[in-house]
Amino acid sequence: MKYSKYSVIIIGSGIAGLYAALKIEQQTNLADGILLVTKSQPGESNSRYAQGGMVGVMKENASDSTASHISDTIKAGAGLSELSTVKFISENSDKVVKDLLNFGVEFDRDENNNLTFTLEAAHSVRRVLHSGGDATGRMIEEALCKKVLSNPNIDIYDQTVAVELLVDETNECKGVIVFNNLTGEYEVIYSSAVILATGGIGQLYKYTTNPIGATGDGMALAFNAGAVMQDMEFVQFHPTALAIDGDENRFLISEAVRGEGAKLVDSKGIEFMHKYHEKLELAPRDIVTRANFSEMIKNNADNVFLNATCIDKAKLLKRFPTISKKCAEHNIDISKDLIPVAPAAHYMMGGVKTNIEGETSIIGLYAIGEVSSTGLHGGNRLASNSLLECVVCAYHSANYLKTIELHTPKQISGTIKEIIEKYSDEIYLEEIDVSAMRKELQNIMWEGAGIFRSDETLKNALEKVENLKLNFHRTDKCLSKEEYEFKNMLTVAEMVIISALKRKESRGAHFRTDFLQTNEVGIHSLLTKSSLQDSKKNLNETTSSIIFRPETEHGCTAGKQV
Ligand code: FAD
Ligand code: SIN
Repeated sequence: MKYSKYSVIIIGSGIAGLYAALKIEQQTNLADGILLVTKSQPGESNSRYAQGGMVGVMKENASDSTASHISDTIKAGAGLSELSTVKFISENSDKVVKDLLNFGVEFDRDENNNLTFTLEAAHSVRRVLHSGGDATGRMIEEALCKKVLSNPNIDIYDQTVAVELLVDETNECKGVIVFNNLTGEYEVIYSSAVILATGGIGQLYKYTTNPIGATGDGMALAFNAGAVMQDMEFVQFHPTALAIDGDENRFLISEAVRGEGAKLVDSKGIEFMHKYHEKLELAPRDIVTRANFSEMIKNNADNVFLNATCIDKAKLLKRFPTISKKCAEHNIDISKDLIPVAPAAHYMMGGVKTNIEGETSIIGLYAIGEVSSTGLHGGNRLASNSLLECVVCAYHSANYLKTIELHTPKQISGTIKEIIEKYSDEIYLEEIDVSAMRKELQNIMWEGAGIFRSDETLKNALEKVENLKLNFHRTDKCLSKEEYEFKNMLTVAEMVIISALKRKESRGAHFRTDFLQTNEVGIHSLLTKSSLQDSKKNLNETTSSIIFRPETEHGCTAGKQV
């Protein structure tokens, strides 16, 4: 077992992790340096695939204002977005976008060199910045990655999986244990600040827009270490993923295509969105997703279609080069043909409960980006608000770290020694091929905890997940990255199912066919290890043992039992 120490460890090399590393390096004088750990190559992440763009409420955009962005975010959030958080993120948008420009990020501009803004669903004005047409995530990520890789003060461990947080009996995080996927070696890394920037959970579902690494690791790590989780039932399904037979990790057809005028149609070419919402194709994402899914069920079809042929061909190809190229690979000419699309798991609104500086309920443990739940997105994220949240929270967590003393721990407690022992012990394990079990879990979640759920489907899913857990029989040490990921996926699946079972209403992306009503007051659901166990025991009781909390300043108030 190797040992090392850093002042700050950042886990994850998506946009949240990369930007946090750069901001911390720029603003904070750290005795023991910064380490960025990523289980992939630097930059491989959900961030890389972001298409539509990033909200920028910019002073130079005369038609926009923070008031308008706040109002749109709150409306889309289905009564669960936290006003103070939304306001903070919106008001910091201009400043952080300008800071990104200084780091070499380029957003698309018009012939007069002015930033150009696109429209996406449920935004009342054009305010979404984009880059490379429809390659926003890749362009931001490449610019930040270049800076991180050339920065001598940021060390990088790639192909390295964070497997357990070192949290002691005083609820303080003192570091992390990592597993090198190439050498099979473990390393204990001590630190007084660990930042989770590990992204989302799309891979829990059969159909997803997320790449293979989106397995909810950071959520499982924080939950296992005792952190409070928030709103884990709120999984966002994107309405328009490219639906090509056999392709389960689905390529996204950006909402911005609808923003530029494309229409949803059924297999006869007939538009249907007027049946579902007055804003038609630009209704909030949860509504468009359910509309598409309902049409598919009604017509016993595998997909609906997106008709982009009404958009000027030159504009279409210039604005959406990645999408047109990908569709062309499948013999679809988007200027002439209908594009087959269907919903797919896309984004996790829930996560580790944090404030806007990324503080979690564990001292010294921070979470930023998709792994966190700041209260911005509520029950349904407004398009392009995720990248904005990543960068604003990364910026402010770096500012916050400047204000506290960061010294690596001097004394290691018995609790932490016990955690370390689990990984240093030579125990004989036989490697498990998890690919079939992973597929099974994805089917279970799609069927039971997907776009439409009910008590029956969720309980059925829970039983099957528990069986998978029994068959997998790993509690701590695993033999490969894939095993660790699968262990984490099982943990997160249970959190999603239990939270969905306990929320006996439909709200935003959480749609219960047995509880169609939306309660008058929106309350967050909080989950911890012990409340999850209690909930499992009391599944058939009518009173809820989930913890709820009211809206609070920056979401900092501790949960209370009701
Ligand atoms: P990620 O970018 O997912 O990065 C997570 C990182 O953590 C990865 O490097 C991963 O390898 C690493 N990691 C995970 N677990 C471990 C572990 N155990 N040990 C070590 N490393 C680990 N949002 C928008 O706002 N606008 C858009 O246009 C948009 N389009 C999207 C299109 C697609 C196809 C997808 C999938 C998402 C899109 N989103 C969009 C959502 C947005 O891209 C993500 O929410 C955001 O990029 C998340 O960034 P992140 O840094 O938090 O996590
Ligand atoms: C898209 O381009 O449709 C995705 C935007 C987002 O998820 O915010």
